[in-house]
Amino acid sequence: MKKLIDKLYEQNTLSKDELCTLLDGLTERDDDYLFEKARSVSKRYFGNRIYVRGLIEFTNYCKNDCYYCGIRKSNKKAERYRLTKEEILSCCENGYSLGFRTFVLQGGEDPFFTDEKIIDLVSSIKKGYPDCAVTLSIGERSGEAYRKFREAGADRYLLRHETANPQHYGKIHPPELSLSNRIQCLERLKESGYQVGSGFMVGSPYQTTENLAEDLLFIRQFEPQMVGIGPFVPHHDTPFAGFPAGGLEKTLRLISILRLMLPSALIPATTALGTIHPEGREKGILAGANVVMPNLSPVGVRKKYELYDNKICTGEEAAECRFCLQNRMRKIGYEIVVDRGDYRPPK
Ligand code: SAM
Ligand code: FES
Repeated sequence: MKKLIDKLYEQNTLSKDELCTLLDGLTERDDDYLFEKARSVSKRYFGNRIYVRGLIEFTNYCKNDCYYCGIRKSNKKAERYRLTKEEILSCCENGYSLGFRTFVLQGGEDPFFTDEKIIDLVSSIKKGYPDCAVTLSIGERSGEAYRKFREAGADRYLLRHETANPQHYGKIHPPELSLSNRIQCLERLKESGYQVGSGFMVGSPYQTTENLAEDLLFIRQFEPQMVGIGPFVPHHDTPFAGFPAGGLEKTLRLISILRLMLPSALIPATTALGTIHPEGREKGILAGANVVMPNLSPVGVRKKYELYDNKICTGEEAAECRFCLQNRMRKIGYEIVVDRGDYRPPK
């Protein structure tokens, strides 16, 4: 496997067959070598600096019915909420004083938040915090909406492609959602000048090794500035309640492979990774990730944004999460920095 890892390190890509061989063939003995290589690449670009993004989960209403997601519209047990503009701005105020310079507005696909309301939110945040980046993560909208959000000041957009295989996409989503539309949205976002984030869940139901290789090659070719991956974690009130969670080792290996493919990409050690292992986020950083995304949402709503079971950090105040993560990062030799953490292309 070392040969394939070296080839990936040197050429930033592999063929689909080689990726399958690597994904199926990696054992614990190869992990140290792989993680070390990926870590050396992220150190080259970012040193020991870790960027933070303040996540504001502003609505858990969703018109979609993705089979894996705890806030899907058919989950009648989900207690729905929306934050007001004032509440969102007060999350930003709190976040700014804690050193956050990026705010991520994430939510279900909630028609209550019309394009006009999103424009108003984005421009108010940019007006109050001109030195901060605003990231949107609100799903599929029209090309015109994406352009207008960008004009209002939005800098980045997170939209995971979820899986690059159309058949697999169909197995984890209802028929009204399609991979082709998802990809069209990603292309429109890129055209509008956003820093774009894509990604997928590791170990989602029916996912094969070949699917993962397709995800990697899609990302290599699309070249997003950010790549968010985390393990699938089941939610008890969804059709996928009975499926096992994605594995820690596999997720870490994929983080490393992605780092070798896209050396200067912004890759978070996700909350889902922290959920399946108490030191998941630290391990993610040591496998090549360089971003963490602590929660800035008011504590009162955190449990309600339950995408999957046992989500961590639902009881802590923003400040607690910020300093908890700072300590966690310091313990492994990294430092959270006060910085927008924009994408910079490879040297
Ligand atoms: N609605 C927006 C969208 O579709 O991009 C943003 C919110 S959506 C809940 C954010 C991400 O959560 C999804 O892209 C998905 O990959 C992830 N997610 C949803 N359910 C999950 C689960 N059960 N386990 C792990 N990740 C999950
Ligand atoms: Fe939230 Fe540790 S990051 S409690």
